[in-house]
This record gives sequence, C-alpha cells and structure tokens, in this order.
Amino acid sequence: MGAHVKITYQIRKEHTELLGSLDGLTELKKEDEEKRREGLRAIMISLDAHGKGEEQTLFPALRKLDATRSIALRAVEEHRILRIIMAEETATGVRDEIWLPRLVILRNLIKLHMQHEEDEVLMKADELFTETFLKELGKKFDFVKKTVKKTYLS
Ligand SMILES: [Fe+2]
Ligand SMILES: [Fe+2]
Repeated sequence: MGAHVKITYQIRKEHTELLGSLDGLTELKKEDEEKRREGLRAIMISLDAHGKGEEQTLFPALRKLDATRSIALRAVEEHRILRIIMAEETATGVRDEIWLPRLVILRNLIKLHMQHEEDEVLMKADELFTETFLKELGKKFDFVKKTVKKTYLS
C-alpha cells in the first residue's frame, strides 16, 4: 500500500495521458486496421474507468455542497453525452470513412469536457477540500478504476 496522491492531481495527469492516446489514435493510417481497433478499445476502457472513477468519488462529494452542486451535475451530464458518442464510435467499422472524423469530434468533445473539469471541478475541489480528503478520494478513485477494468477482462 503506497501513499496515494490527491485525486485532483491524478485526474489531471490522466487527462494528459488520455488525450495523448486519443491523438495517437487519430494519427494511425487507415491501413492499420488492427491497431485502430485495439487502440480504440484500450482507450474506451481507460476512459470508462476514468469517468466512473470520477462519478463515484469526486462528483458525489461536490454534489453535496450548494456551491458546487451545479458543476458536478453538469460534469455527469457531459459524461452521459460522451458515452453515447463513444458507443457510436465503437460501433463504427474502422474501414468506414466516417470512423476518423467521428473520432476527431469525439476527441475534441473529450478535450472540452476535460477543460471544464480542470477549470471548475478540480479547481473547486482543491479549494474546498483538505489534502487528506483529496488523498482519500485518490485511493478510492484507483480502486474504482481497477474494478471497472476487471469487468472488461474475459
Ligand atoms: Fe470526466
Ligand atoms: Fe476527467
């Protein structure tokens, strides 16, 4: 059991990593069908784990406070919309010419969502919560992510 980092730090770090992976995926040549398929699947799993991690830790904590209730609700709503587009992209064949444009739009919407989180959700959390509590949430975040990733192994 190592020391845990603050959830706000961990989320920011993952945003950078996830965006990097998404950018890498958009740069694959259309001939690399297997890489596209596997890359998309891996990113969708990581995004799902990241999103559920947020939904089960930081968002409920912020929803309890009057000052941050609306930003927490908006973040959850953004997740709902993103899941719809993620499912559509997953259902699109990698040979389909719309696969890449759809992925680029998805990437841009994810980036916008991450900016909302960083500029509002994470900023407020850092302002309102103690370091101890943020580290506790960080531990729970890791646990939720591991649990979600396990559901994809079969
Ligand atoms: Fe999110
Ligand atoms: Fe996030």
